[in-house]
Amino acid sequence: MTEAQFIPQPYTKSVEQGKVTWESPSNIALVKYWGKKEHQIPENPSISFTLNNCKTITTLTYTKKDNSNEFDFEVYLDGEKKDDFKPKIETFFNRVEQYLSFLKDYKFVVETQNTFPHSSGIASSASGMSALALCLMSIEKQLNSEKFSDEYFNQKASFLARLGSGSACRSIEGDLIVWGKNNIVEGSSDLFGVKYPYGVHENFKEYQDTILLVDKGEKQVSSTVGHNLMYGHPYAQNRFAQAHENLEKLKAILESGDLDKFIEIIESEALTLHAMMMTSMPYFILMKPNTLEIINKIWAFREATGLHIGFTLDAGANVHVLYPKQESEQIMEFIKSELVGYCQNEQYICDQIGFGANQIE
Ligand code: DP6
Repeated sequence: MTEAQFIPQPYTKSVEQGKVTWESPSNIALVKYWGKKEHQIPENPSISFTLNNCKTITTLTYTKKDNSNEFDFEVYLDGEKKDDFKPKIETFFNRVEQYLSFLKDYKFVVETQNTFPHSSGIASSASGMSALALCLMSIEKQLNSEKFSDEYFNQKASFLARLGSGSACRSIEGDLIVWGKNNIVEGSSDLFGVKYPYGVHENFKEYQDTILLVDKGEKQVSSTVGHNLMYGHPYAQNRFAQAHENLEKLKAILESGDLDKFIEIIESEALTLHAMMMTSMPYFILMKPNTLEIINKIWAFREATGLHIGFTLDAGANVHVLYPKQESEQIMEFIKSELVGYCQNEQYICDQIGFGANQIE
């Protein structure tokens, strides 16, 4: 599959106006994407759990306009006009225009809402860009008399979402998604996310993710800036090679259900991601003192109880506490009594593995 296969044939139908709504989830990477080439091509493969509760709901209203000279759109978040979101969407439209020939023919109103705080370190760009990409695919579908297969629809939606934000390509489906060409997962691609095609042990079914909101403020360094700092980074090549190795190890772990080894990989991935930030030039730190307090508490609790509690981090201070469903009672008790105190306003979100986006009629 190459980019060319996503360039549409001339549309056969004409549609004056309409409205479409999708809800799309966030995802949490187990092996991290950090570093990209031109055109949103990742430097290394990543794999993620799709989440279930953290999602963006986007309604796209479209009305045919007279001229096709430029993009015309408005953006609303929770009913409030958000002109500061426009540049990101404008960039996205520019990147995907050649794959969606109708973009300049309509005036769009994007109405969006999240089930979690904006810029909380939960990847709102992943759920947001994937929801928008899916809405656009629904419009493209209407403009074609030929039916798209579900596979093509999802693949192109993931392809488009990637051009909005890399990690967004892993939010279309679930429950485990791989993005980035590698020799470990057959069918993997740099262009879009694919469903993890191999056996997954019962231990990982309904895996839990409790997200501790340590710092809900806007990030000091955006992911895009962070990715760019991997150019000329002294450890970049080793890191990219390590991601392939970790994906290979994870494949065996997902099959065997070895939770201790699973925790070893995901925690190492999280800390390596932040180590890359700390060793960039300029260097930066996104963890907060409470992030470290939580990590140390998790380690001590695991040592004391033998329970399979682990953590991962995104490009932010929040901690994703990951654990199997069957241990959730004791672990939730620990989270509430020992960890929630480290969260901003004691806020946390209970989530678990999910199965991807849904169209809302
Ligand atoms: C740390 O997908 O937000 O969450 O492609 O520039 O939009 P852009 O970056 P983004 O990067 C996410 C990085 C990460 C790791 C991951 O999700 O794999």
